Parts: sequence; C-alpha cells; structure tokens
Amino acid sequence: MVKRIGVLTSGGDAPGMNAAIRAVVRMASHHGLEVYGIKYGYAGLVRNDMDKLSNRSVADIIHRGGTILRTARSAEFTREAGLLKAIEALSLNEIDGLIVIGGDGSFRGAMALSERGIKTVGVPATIDNDIPGTEYSIGFDTAVNNVVDAVNKIRDTATSHERVYVVEVMGREAGHIALSAGLAGGAESILIPEDESCSLSELCKRVVRGYQRGKAHSIIIVAEGFKPNGEDVESPGMYVGNYIREKTGFETRITILGHTQRGGTPTVMDRILASKFGAKAVELLLEGKHGVMVGIRGNRIVSVPFSEVFSGHQEIDRDMFELAEILSRP
Ligand code: F6P
Repeated sequence: MVKRIGVLTSGGDAPGMNAAIRAVVRMASHHGLEVYGIKYGYAGLVRNDMDKLSNRSVADIIHRGGTILRTARSAEFTREAGLLKAIEALSLNEIDGLIVIGGDGSFRGAMALSERGIKTVGVPATIDNDIPGTEYSIGFDTAVNNVVDAVNKIRDTATSHERVYVVEVMGREAGHIALSAGLAGGAESILIPEDESCSLSELCKRVVRGYQRGKAHSIIIVAEGFKPNGEDVESPGMYVGNYIREKTGFETRITILGHTQRGGTPTVMDRILASKFGAKAVELLLEGKHGVMVGIRGNRIVSVPFSEVFSGHQEIDRDMFELAEILSRP
C-alpha cells in the first residue's frame, strides 16, 4: 500500500503543470497520503532536493503558468550512477510511489525507474502534444491559444501593409501546434514536419494566386521542426520567409514566437485536463497500477503502459490538415 508519494516536473515546462501538482497533492491528501515535491525534476531527485507539500502549499497556483517545483533536463540521471542516486533518495525519504509530470523524455526516465521497481505513473505535459497514447497533453491548448492570439495581432498589421507574414511556432518534431493554430487562426498555409511533400515553389505560387484573387495578406505558419525542401535548417521560419521574399518580391516579415508560446495562464481546458490527470495518477497508485501514463482518449481518462507510449507515434490529424488547406483557399 502506497503511503507517501513524490511528484516532480521534468523537461520543458507546460502551462497547467501547476494545476496538475495541485491535483496530485489534494487528491493524495483526500486519501490520507503524504506528498513530497521534488525540485528541478530528476536533477533534484538525484541530489535529494525535496520538500513536503500540503494542501496549503499548492493554494493559489491553479492559474499560474510554469511550475512551482521548477524543472530541468538532467544529464546525470540518464547515467546508471545518477539513476541509483535517485533510487536511494526515494528510499531515504520513504517515498513509495512517484508521479512524473512531463514529456516523452521524462517518461523514459520514469520507465527506467519503473524497471527498477519504483512505482511510477506519468502525467503527459508538453506543449508539443506529441506523446503517443493520449489525444491531449497538458499545455498544448494554452500554447495554441497563445499562437492564435499572436496571429490575430499579426493579421491586423499584415492587412494594413498587404504583406506576407511567416510565423514560426514551436514543435521540435511535430506539427500539432502549427496545425491547430493554423486552422484556428485562418492561416493561408501551414508547414509541418509530417508533410514531406511540401514544395516551397508551390507555396510561392499559392501566395501569388492569393494576391491575384484579392487577398490583402498572407499568413504562413511554420513549425520549427519543418524541413524546407528536406533540409535541416536552424530556423525554418527564417528560411521560408527569405525564400518567399526572394522568389516573389513580396514584402515579407518573419516572426518567431519562441518561448512566449510556453508561458501565461493556462486555459480552462488545460486546467481541467491537469486536474483530472493529477487526480487519476494518485488513484492509479492507490489501485496498485504503475509503469503507466495517464491519458485522454475519446473524452475518457485512461491509463497507458509506458511500453505502449514508446512503441507508438502521435500522428498528425491528416483530415484536419486537408480541411485547413481547403478552408484557406481564397
Ligand atoms: O518540448 C517542448 C518545447 O517547447 C519544444 O517545442 C521546443 O523545441 C523545446 O521545448 C525548447 O526547449 P528549451 O526550452 O530547452 O529551449
């Protein structure tokens, strides 16, 4: 029977992580369990940096972006010696269950601990929304809203000057943010890593056609993981913007939204998702289920074995991609 659990946030932060921590602590307290908050992700676990959390210590955080526990990417933890230190810290503090809030890199660590007998449950949180086994991860909805908010503003100035705007958004290996924000923001084109057939000369023709048909501007969303003409470049947004300017002669501006996408108050959807995920993670530990990640599928909160998370790939919604293309035709 689990009596004391640890919770940590790891990898890139995501808005809603605080709501998940709050749910873990309060659901645990509801069941009479103690919770230790581990600072700086696995880096803090390795050096035994943790504090007891109470219902009061997670007050007033549901609306705050970032993570009160801080986060880090730990190189030490990926080595055997680091892993052993982490296990030692857990045993020293008599922690018998661990909840890891983070992305797929964080879950690799969680799986390594799980394979060493630590009862571990993962809570998916990454703005990239690229974790297999769950339709949504904490932080994605807020990030998409941040992008759409920026695109709305860019649209005003783009129309006034009748310019082309290229907006580069996050998504290291996946185009989920670009696709959702592109559809919701009414972008003329969306460039994502999953669309390998994308041709930049076709894109230029499309931009020209748009202006010929009376469009006042062109907004192109580029995922940071997009490879223009199959090439790995430092900033695909810069590359695409310069290419369009050169080939069409249109006045073109480039905006890289960067980390602004990852901050700010979490949306209602992220707060609710985080609250449900955090609570479910505690319940799973109480039911004796571990070595799993919580997830959402068809509006149901589910648990997914880590092995399934790593064997799959979070596919892009091809129908949505096609829809965005059809609806953006002038
Ligand atoms: O994994 C989330 C993410 O925001 C990616 O979209 C992005 O490429 C990366 O993290 C940036 O990482 P860092 O904050 O370490 O620069």
